[in-house]
Amino acid sequence: MALHLKTQPTPAATTRAAADPAGPVIQLRNVAKRFRRADGTVANAIDGVTLDVAPGEFVVLLGPSGCGKTTLLRTIAGLERADEGEIDIHGRTVFDAQRGIEVPPERRNLSMIFQSYALWPHLTVFDNVAYPLRSRGQRLSKAEIAEKVNHVLQLVGVGELGKQYPGQMSGGQQQRVALARALVDGGDLVLFDEPLSNVDAKVRETLRRELLEMQRTLGFAAVYVTHDQHEAMELAHRVAVMGGGKVRQLDVPRRIYSEPASRYVANFIGTTNEFPATVRAVDGDALVLDTPAGQARGVAAAEGLAVGDEVVACFRPEYALLDTTSGEGNVWPGIVERVLFLGQTTETVVRLGPTSQRVRVTTLGEATHAEGDDITVYVSAERLRVLPVEDVVA
Ligand SMILES: Nc1ncnc2c1ncn2[C@@H]1O[C@H](COP(=O)(O)OP(=O)(O)O)[C@@H](O)[C@H]1O
Ligand SMILES: [Mg+2]
Repeated sequence: MALHLKTQPTPAATTRAAADPAGPVIQLRNVAKRFRRADGTVANAIDGVTLDVAPGEFVVLLGPSGCGKTTLLRTIAGLERADEGEIDIHGRTVFDAQRGIEVPPERRNLSMIFQSYALWPHLTVFDNVAYPLRSRGQRLSKAEIAEKVNHVLQLVGVGELGKQYPGQMSGGQQQRVALARALVDGGDLVLFDEPLSNVDAKVRETLRRELLEMQRTLGFAAVYVTHDQHEAMELAHRVAVMGGGKVRQLDVPRRIYSEPASRYVANFIGTTNEFPATVRAVDGDALVLDTPAGQARGVAAAEGLAVGDEVVACFRPEYALLDTTSGEGNVWPGIVERVLFLGQTTETVVRLGPTSQRVRVTTLGEATHAEGDDITVYVSAERLRVLPVEDVVA
């Protein structure tokens, strides 16, 4: 289903400061939302979230099921009432727990698109898109409505489809119509809750590319919820990785992947090799570690790591090189235990030294080594990230 919550800005609304068009589209400060479950226990669905979304920015909320993504989105939309915190949209306070401000959803000047982009099957494309304009009693004339609808259908590239019914269109066309409906009132903020999760994999990929293309071209701001890391990496300007109602890391996809700030993020995004270590020496960000495979050098990925700390050393399987002897970094001898040819890549499982510590190394193409071979695993010190042990589970 798609809900249409957008209206013209209301001058009577509470204004913290004059709306700055270059300022954030959304500002969340310490937003918390608790649910009381049927058994009387309390779920901290949102646990102190602070987040800004810039104009034209695509922010993805990524995390496993139950981590609070939908609740956060609904709280922004005003479909859930937060227990704590403040929410500004377009520089206007729409929620403030302390001051008792709560602007209703239909006056928050945003649109929300739910699963599958569901359009009304009994309405033509034109009428689907005109719906939000007609349903809010804005008293637009027929000609004004036609002009707005046709304009936005042109914008999303389906200008010729106004008379068709959704059932007669491809998934890509339906997505465009759903976007047209979200944008028809001139809004520039769209919230998405796993819109592609019911679509099969191949089509999903196509729709994702199209959505990316349209968002970057049209420039509306988006908050997009998904549990699919590939979707997040592809669509996002910035990803907010969520766990247990908190934003665990907020950054551009590249850094979320290559510089995870916790084991939680390192393990949720992609795959990672982890092994236990003890900090032997600290030199700024550079650390010397004792590991089961011998001494190693890595970088501190969190603050406050000190000599003697039990830590975890991590690296991505593709950051390692096999049988490469370089003067710098870590070179660990080992034995090839398993070689898995996966087509584009080969995964090699290596048992390090005299230990039972196994690591996975991913290389492009076919492997030249075989099971039982002696081999070395090379990981540069920059690629070996050292993290506090902490809980991996959110
Ligand atoms: N209406 C509700 N009543 C009670 N608990 C809820 C309600 N909605 C969500 N929750 C709980 O809040 C947490 C976050 O849920 P949700 O935001 O739906 O997660 P996600 O969208 O990331 O899967 C979960 O523990 C869920 O069970
Ligand atoms: Mg959800």
